[in-house]
Amino acid sequence: MKRAVIYYSLDGNTKEAAQKIAEALGAALIELETEKPMPSGKASRILYGGMLSTMNQTPALKPLSADPANFDEIILGTPVWAWKIAAPVRSFLTKYAVDEKVTAVFTLSGGADDTKCLEDLRHLLHHIRHTATLADRKSSFAEGNAVRLKKFIAALTE
Ligand SMILES: Cc1cc2nc3c(=O)[nH]c(=O)nc-3n(C[C@H](O)[C@H](O)[C@H](O)COP(=O)(O)O)c2cc1C
Repeated sequence: MKRAVIYYSLDGNTKEAAQKIAEALGAALIELETEKPMPSGKASRILYGGMLSTMNQTPALKPLSADPANFDEIILGTPVWAWKIAAPVRSFLTKYAVDEKVTAVFTLSGGADDTKCLEDLRHLLHHIRHTATLADRKSSFAEGNAVRLKKFIAALTE
């Protein structure tokens, strides 16, 4: 089975988890990047990114390094933005017909609360079997990341 880990990451947390998952599964790694760079200042990033996600905006993406259609299964990673899917990940889900392929999702957030983000994801994806709730490395909740990631990877290799 051909698997890909597809993710967006602004500050590297989702990227780090995606790399670990892809390595453990022997899966391809595909990073989503926006055509227009996000603002560089911390506050303006939160404001702009939060606005995009709140409004369900779908910013244009750069071409992907591989076609998702070439994979049997996709594991999708998103940061939580304004409690929702990060806007670039919504762009991906809107542009590519991957509902049948995405069987697992993982989220990165400041406070390890991805309840609404998962609801948002389940609204668009109907075959999610496994989830992992991970926290930003700067958060105290990040202590649990290693165990959560291990369980997630174990479930995916069963
Ligand atoms: C635009 C924006 C909105 C965010 N909104 C939330 C939020 O609603 N809840 C939360 O817990 N963290 C929020 N965060 C924090 C990120 O989810 C967290 O830092 C995550 O680890 C970022 O992943 P990354 O390093 O892969 O970009 C937000 C960050 C950004 C940039």
